Parts: sequence; structure tokens; C-alpha cells
Amino acid sequence: MAIIAYKCPDCEVTVVDINPERIDAWNSNELPVYEPGLDKIIKKTRGKNLFFARDIEKQIKENDIIFVSVNTPTKTFGTGAGMAADLQYWEKTARQILENSQSSKIVIEKSTLPVKTALAMEKILNLAKGKIRFDVLSNPEFLAEGTAIEDLENPDRVLIGSHETRSGLKARQELVDIYSRWVPSEKIITSNIWSAELSKLVANAFLAQRVSSINSISALCEKTDADISEVAKAVGMDSRVGSKFLQAGIGFGGSCFKKDILNLVYLCSYYGLKEVADYWESVVKINEYQQDRFMANILGSMFNTLAGKKICILGFAFKANTGDTRESPAIYITRKLLAEHAEIIISDPKALKNAAFDLVGVKGSVKYVEDPYSAAAGCHALAILTDWDLYRKLDFRKIYKSMVKPAFLFDGRNIIDHKKCFALGFNVYPIGKPALSHFQPENNS
Ligand code: UDX
Repeated sequence: MAIIAYKCPDCEVTVVDINPERIDAWNSNELPVYEPGLDKIIKKTRGKNLFFARDIEKQIKENDIIFVSVNTPTKTFGTGAGMAADLQYWEKTARQILENSQSSKIVIEKSTLPVKTALAMEKILNLAKGKIRFDVLSNPEFLAEGTAIEDLENPDRVLIGSHETRSGLKARQELVDIYSRWVPSEKIITSNIWSAELSKLVANAFLAQRVSSINSISALCEKTDADISEVAKAVGMDSRVGSKFLQAGIGFGGSCFKKDILNLVYLCSYYGLKEVADYWESVVKINEYQQDRFMANILGSMFNTLAGKKICILGFAFKANTGDTRESPAIYITRKLLAEHAEIIISDPKALKNAAFDLVGVKGSVKYVEDPYSAAAGCHALAILTDWDLYRKLDFRKIYKSMVKPAFLFDGRNIIDHKKCFALGFNVYPIGKPALSHFQPENNS
């Protein structure tokens, strides 16, 4: 919404939320999320044509176009629990729009939703009396965290789905006109509403599938003399495959991938497509397997006991350049390490608050230390769990000196110079590459 306000100075954009503290935070100098470049855009637009307001009902009344971006978490109860999307917030919002509208509106699905959600929403909205009508569009968002501003300013594509009726097409054109202010027309694609809804789930499923594919091969590399970076490079240089999203690691996290794949799996099962459902579910299973493998590697390499050992977690966010920890592999790995009675020191430049929130109530010793050097001092092992650039630039000589020997380094993102760290004295365990250990092979089983 900030980018729309920035690119379209003649549009007035108002953001509302049921959480008043969040709205206050958006109106303050400390924004509630960390996203590179966002603060600058907000400063340029806030109070001019971008507003954050608490009065949801009034804003529904006064605006012509409503983007609905409420959360659609995985259902935790009833039919489809653990798989299907929980649509209660969406439905409540649709009812609220219906109750507070005194004029016709375009309602745009921005949240990622299961196919045919628009239909359910239309059924509610079409209860409207008199001359008021609602046109529902699907306009899924493809931005990634950490690069959101760039993704929004230069998107690969903007997708707008609508009914192919006269009023559906007219509503679609209104939204096309907004994006056309800054997105080249060949990148604005239109489709029917179901294709738009499904495309978002499938786009995320394909991306996650690439990560699981390369991670599955990393396991094979560790058993052979192959190196996953070399394999990824050779495979990715085929222009039909492409080089992006082939970085092996401890698995994908984030609020989207797992949720959207499980949603896709549920849809396939619902329509009786068991084989298709199983195929996509395996992407999530490999992701869990990768985290278990990483954990088993730590335990096995450190002589099968972690009790009382200090392990420094470098990075808790699910990826670099964000403070977001939702579904971060770090949560699972930290819990597993604590279950082995390891003492955990967590370091992250942006995610410590969220990390503490994720680990509320866990048993064991957890400390939060922002400075990576202080965090690592006195530890038996380092585990790099987020690909923050700052970890590439650390002075590992200084860190090595401050650690308990033998010092272990588990690079869950393959971002540091393994040979250099090995030469400094570390026992180094990358992903999908041979371990560099100072122990004799028989002691390293
Ligand atoms: C994703 C999609 O990219 C975006 O289009 C969609 O709108 C929302 O979901 P996001 O969750 O922000 O975006 O992060 P993304 O960059 O896709 O990374 C997801 C996870 O995969 C991260 O944990 C990342 O570390 C991991 N990843 C990504 C890898 O392990 N290897 C890779 O090569 C790429």
C-alpha cells in the first residue's frame, strides 16, 4: 500500500488493522516490521496520501477499493486441521465490508487463499441490498521479505484475476490502471479469478520445491565426494533450469511456503488427487528431513553428547534482511538442541525480540546476545542458521581464539570460507560438502 501511495500521488490510501497498537506503531518513528527501504517510502507518503487509521468501519464506508490482506493461517482445528487455510478472518472481513458499505466497491483478495475463496466471499457480499454491488478481484502478492520494495517497484509480473463479466472486466481495468503507473503493461497479466488464486499457491510450491530438490541432493553429496555448490552451479547454468533458488541450506522457513504447500495438498486431497497431494507433501517432508539431518550432524560430530555444551546460534530469522522468524528452521533446531541439554546463545541483528517470543516457556538455558563476538565467546560450537551478510565478514580468527577447543562450526547456509576456518583450527561442517575435521576418521564417526 505504501508503494501504491508513493507511485500514485492522486490516490488516497488508508491502512486499517484490528490491532490498534500496530496502527500506532505504523504512525510512529519505529515501524513494526523491519524491511529495507520501507521507512523511506513511509516518510515520503505518510500524512500526504498514505494514512494509518483505527476506524475500520468508517474507512470501509469512505473508500472505493478495498484490499483485504488479513492473515490466513493453517487451520488448527476441525476438518482440514494442519492443512487447510483458516478463513475465519477473511469471512469476518467480508461481513464487515457488507455491513458498512453504502456504495459499490471493488474488493481485492491480497491474502493468499485457497482456490474458490472468492466465490465464498461473493456469496456473502452479494447479500447486499439495493443498488450496491461488489466486484471481487484476486491480486496475489509475489514480493519476498527483505527485497519487498524492489520486488514491488520492479515486479516480474502483476497478476489480476477477475470474473469475465462486464462489471468484472471493468473492475479489473481499474486495478490495471493503478499498476500501469509504474509497471510496464507486458508485465501486468490478467486471468480468470480461479487461475489467479491457484497461481499464487503454485508459484510458492514451485519455489519451495526447488529448495527441497537441492537440499535432497545435498544429503547425497555428503555421502559421496560431490560438492553441492558445484552441482548447483552446473545444473543451474542450464537456462531451462536457471540458477536461482538452488542454495542448499537447513531448509526453507517463512510464513508462506509451508502453509501454501499444505493448502495445495489439502486442495488436491479434497478433489481426490491423492498422488498429486503426496507429491507436493514430499516437499515439506524433505524440508523437515533436512533440519533433522543438520541436528543429527551436530550431535554425531560432537561425540553424541551436547549436555552442558554451549552452542552459539548465529542467525534466528528465517532468512537474511528480515527480523521475521515465522517457521524459521532456527526454532526447531534450537528446541532440539535444548532437548539434548545444550546451553544456547542466540545472536541475530534483527530477530532477537521475535526469537525470545518464539521460545517463551521452553525448558533449558537460552541467552540472547546481539554482538556475535560476545555470543560466540566461551562456546563449544557455532551454528550459522541465517544467511546474514555480516556473518560472511566475521573475524573467525578472533572468534576461534575465544571458544572452547575443539571448536566446531556448522554452516547451515554455506556462506563462509570453510577452508579458511578449517585452517584456523575449526572443525567445519558445511551442507552438502565433505566435513573438514581435524580428528582422525575413526574418531569422527
Ligand atoms: C516467498 C516467495 O519468494 C514470495 O514470492 C512470496 O510472495 C512469499 O513467499 P519469502 O517467504 O519472503 O517469499 O522468502 P524467500 O526468499 O522465498 O525464501 C524462503 C525460504 O527459503 C527462506 O528460509 C530461505 O532461506 C530459503 N531458501 C531460499 C533456501 O534455503 N535456498 C534458496 O536457494 C532460496
